[in-house]
Amino acid sequence: MKIGILTGGGDCPGLNAVIRAVVRKGVFHYRDAFVGFLEGWRGLVENQSMPLDLDAVSGILPRGGTILRTSRTNPSKRPDGIDRCIATLKAHNIDGLVAIGGDDTLSVAQKLYEKSVKVVGVPKTIDNDLGGTDYTFGFDTACNVACEAIDRVHTTAEAHNRVMVVEVMGRDAGWIALYSGIAGGADVILIPERPFDVDKVAESIRQRHERGRYFSIVVAAEGAKFAEGGGAPVIQDMGKDEFGHAKLGGIANVLAREIEKRTGFETRAVVLGHIQRGGTPSAFDRVLATRYGLGAIDMVHRGEFGCMAALRSNKITSISLKEAISKNRTVDNEMIQIVDGLFEEIGVKEAAGSK
Ligand code: F6P
Repeated sequence: MKIGILTGGGDCPGLNAVIRAVVRKGVFHYRDAFVGFLEGWRGLVENQSMPLDLDAVSGILPRGGTILRTSRTNPSKRPDGIDRCIATLKAHNIDGLVAIGGDDTLSVAQKLYEKSVKVVGVPKTIDNDLGGTDYTFGFDTACNVACEAIDRVHTTAEAHNRVMVVEVMGRDAGWIALYSGIAGGADVILIPERPFDVDKVAESIRQRHERGRYFSIVVAAEGAKFAEGGGAPVIQDMGKDEFGHAKLGGIANVLAREIEKRTGFETRAVVLGHIQRGGTPSAFDRVLATRYGLGAIDMVHRGEFGCMAALRSNKITSISLKEAISKNRTVDNEMIQIVDGLFEEIGVKEAAGSK
């Protein structure tokens, strides 16, 4: 078969490991040939591609980013975008397409599938919020990066008697904040799923300091929301990408000001941003990404199109793209309640404003 591959949306560590696994199994076991479409769906809209063979994927396993590059191009927002994608696939005689991406990229894959394109999806996002799969690759690496940063922030917070607010990624789901916050021993964890009361956050910090602690660590997802003011996230600028997402960011600075105002404790903000997305994938993500890639090429050969490789109960399985994109996998109440056991006065649950 002749198979196309593309990577779309925000990059994440492990993309190259997926590409490598798809190509290696395709060449070694199925005698496939591959074309890499460049910069996500833009490569199909504008017919930009590169040859993908064993040489092209050699040495890329530990590399962050993606050798195919990526973009947030949405063909539905371009004149004849979807038709141009189909024309490019025809021009290259593509028998099957592997689209590696998050819900935006896979929603385009579903649209193409509805137009008879033979496409298989692979779930990717550091936010870990794609439906139907237990984990997306890139998430583990992001959590490790955030955890290391929190550890470092801890020692400087301790040295200066400060409150430190660490902002991590997570637009709609607080998985990175939750995991890195637990792993880093944060005192307050704020997630988008539960708008928080800033007075309660400040009070919990004040009480902690009264108990003899003289520093505190707050971990906030970029999409965490102040309950007052209707629960809208803090936005960096009003521009939106082609999938309609605003640029989030800035909650750490706002929160640091509010905490300092309410407690009188010196407070600083640290924004981790794209550091969480860059660099080499963790061993866990390399293995997970490889398993996804091997699963995806098998799905192509089994003719399981319109489907996505998914991890369920530690097994790679196949679910419909429709199911995967139907709902974000956000942090559920059960998880929040478990984590709440760690906090004496105001835990994730109360800091996050639930009953
Ligand atoms: O891919 C998801 C994500 O990492 C979000 O956590 C974040 O809001 C967004 O991407 C940032 O996107 P960009 O790279 O376009 O700034």
